[in-house]
Amino acid sequence: MTDSVAAPAGVVGAAGVVGAVAAARESRESGKSREPREPILQVRNLVKHFPLTQGVLFKRQIGAVKAVDGVSFDLYQGETLGIVGESGCGKSTVAKLLMTLETATAGEVFYKGEDITRLSGRALKAVRRNIQMVFQDPYTSLNPRMTVGDIIGEPFDIHPEVAPKGDRRRRVQELLDVVGLNPEYINRYPHQFSGGQRQRIGIARGLALNPEIIICDEPVSALDVSVQAQVVNLMEKLQDEFDLSYVFIAHDLSIVRHISDRVGVMYLGRFVEIGTDEQIYDHPTHPYTQALLSAVPVPDPEARDGRERIILAGDVPSPANPPSGCRFRTRCWKAQARCAEEVPLLAVPTRFAASASPAAHESACHFAEEKDVVHA
Ligand SMILES: Nc1ncnc2c1ncn2[C@@H]1O[C@H](COP(=O)(O)OP(=O)(O)OP(=O)(O)O)[C@@H](O)[C@H]1O
Ligand code: SF4
Ligand SMILES: [Mg+2]
Repeated sequence: MTDSVAAPAGVVGAAGVVGAVAAARESRESGKSREPREPILQVRNLVKHFPLTQGVLFKRQIGAVKAVDGVSFDLYQGETLGIVGESGCGKSTVAKLLMTLETATAGEVFYKGEDITRLSGRALKAVRRNIQMVFQDPYTSLNPRMTVGDIIGEPFDIHPEVAPKGDRRRRVQELLDVVGLNPEYINRYPHQFSGGQRQRIGIARGLALNPEIIICDEPVSALDVSVQAQVVNLMEKLQDEFDLSYVFIAHDLSIVRHISDRVGVMYLGRFVEIGTDEQIYDHPTHPYTQALLSAVPVPDPEARDGRERIILAGDVPSPANPPSGCRFRTRCWKAQARCAEEVPLLAVPTRFAASASPAAHESACHFAEEKDVVHA
């Protein structure tokens, strides 16, 4: 089955998502400006350590996987904060902590000023209604034995106040329409839909309770490139329509730039750089961000030939035993003795602090400096 349902404006063909996203970026940047307002989420020193245990009968802790190890950021109302980083750097764990699906080892997540890591019972249920998630895999995240109507309407079982029993069918059909699916599909099963359509169903389920924040963990990674841009465009349309705030996690830097107002770069459980999309993509100051950007495919052959590709040596170290000082130092071509001794703080580097330069944004590097990186 193809993704032939009513597609939102700006939908692109199968020319490849990088080109599609680049074209769409221009119209988004010229026509659309979501000015950040008040922070709706404030994350402070968030930590999640998974214990490593040994023994069968008498389990004893022999260490911990430091999946998230001191993450702080704000999410502003109506904005999209993109999070990028290599596999295993802790992106999904951050997502689960924001959703309170995992218990934080330490730190706080303030939602409208209230620390949700300390909530339980009714208060937690009320907050959870406002923070929803869209998952990566539209194939496994939908129960194959449930109809689309039951899947999208399931959140109403927990929050019947949002859609009383007699009103549920109408509300589900409304949601199907909102995400560009035919409301008459309400009795179909997930296997009767394409990947892109299934992700639309996942988005409709995420919208069911009228949330303010949606945490999107790799929402388009499992989709064909031709469908990725359709889903991203749909998400942007919905954001404008419902004034949503997104945390958008993805591997694809082009997609993240397209949808994000600001971007945070993660490495081994920490943010190493955070700024506006322009600051991060056009004026990166952290060597890790520069290396990631240098690996982005460039469609223009001339630009591709002339660019410097930064190849990172070695694998990402184990989060159970991260390097001392700067965690990136074992792969960083600029590392010096100080990098092993002193943890670089995520802050605007002193040398840029007083300037109006786009390089004046937070970067966790002792020797932060701009580097021209050619990327798409
Ligand atoms: N429940 C768990 N128990 C133990 N370790 C875990 C658990 N969940 C995640 N981890 C570990 O925490 C680290 C971060 O995992 P996480 O899934 O957050 O990474 P990620 O950035 O989302 O990776 P990917 O891009 O592959 O999805 C990894 O080393 C992972 O093995
Ligand atoms: S602090 Fe040192 S090791 Fe870390 S990124 Fe900067 S130069 Fe590289
Ligand atoms: Mg993940």
